[in-house]
Amino acid sequence: MIIAVDGPTASGKGTIAKALAAHFGLPHLDTGLLYRAVGRQVFLDGGDPDDSGDALAATAFPDSLLDDPHLRDEETGGLASRVSVHPAVRQALFERQRSFATQKGGAVLDGRDIGTVIAPEAEAKLFVTASVEARAQRRFLEMRDRGVPVTLAEIEDDLRRRDERDRNRAVAPLVPAEDALVIDTSALDREEAFAAALEAVNALT
Ligand code: C5P
Repeated sequence: MIIAVDGPTASGKGTIAKALAAHFGLPHLDTGLLYRAVGRQVFLDGGDPDDSGDALAATAFPDSLLDDPHLRDEETGGLASRVSVHPAVRQALFERQRSFATQKGGAVLDGRDIGTVIAPEAEAKLFVTASVEARAQRRFLEMRDRGVPVTLAEIEDDLRRRDERDRNRAVAPLVPAEDALVIDTSALDREEAFAAALEAVNALT
């Protein structure tokens, strides 16, 4: 069984995907991490994330980079969003995601285009979303806990910019697959969001 979980930043899709994977005993891939690794590698190379050649070269990042704590930084998220607009970058990361998705026994993948591009045959497709305000608030509390000095307004601005770029890019824009079930987590806590997702997956499979 393949479960595709797509949605914008800080919608709760990662938490839901992880919990579904644990529940069904399936491996989980956070595909955003791959784009973050490319963004981070461009930075380490002193390259330009808006240059398709620089970004493509960075897709050859070493596996060890996936453990770099800087991948979770907001700056890296911004770089990831910029390198992810290049079709050559998406193509280079396609096989890796595809083979994870089609391995024997199934998998849970979360990202932006799992249900539309990477695994359109997925048995269950969820599109997890939430208002910008709810997502900014969550990210703000997370950052505050990590001691990162940032304001709610800065986070909200950054989320809007990233949403805009992810939704309007020419290749694999962030849109729900036609057969995806939409889960709005704005008013849900973690447990409620997981319960809604589990119910959706059980209804779809
Ligand atoms: O989900 P996360 O915030 O880690 O993703 C970082 C960026 O990587 C996103 O803003 C998006 O531009 C890009 N991305 C993508 N396709 C995916 C996963 C992430 O374009 N499947």
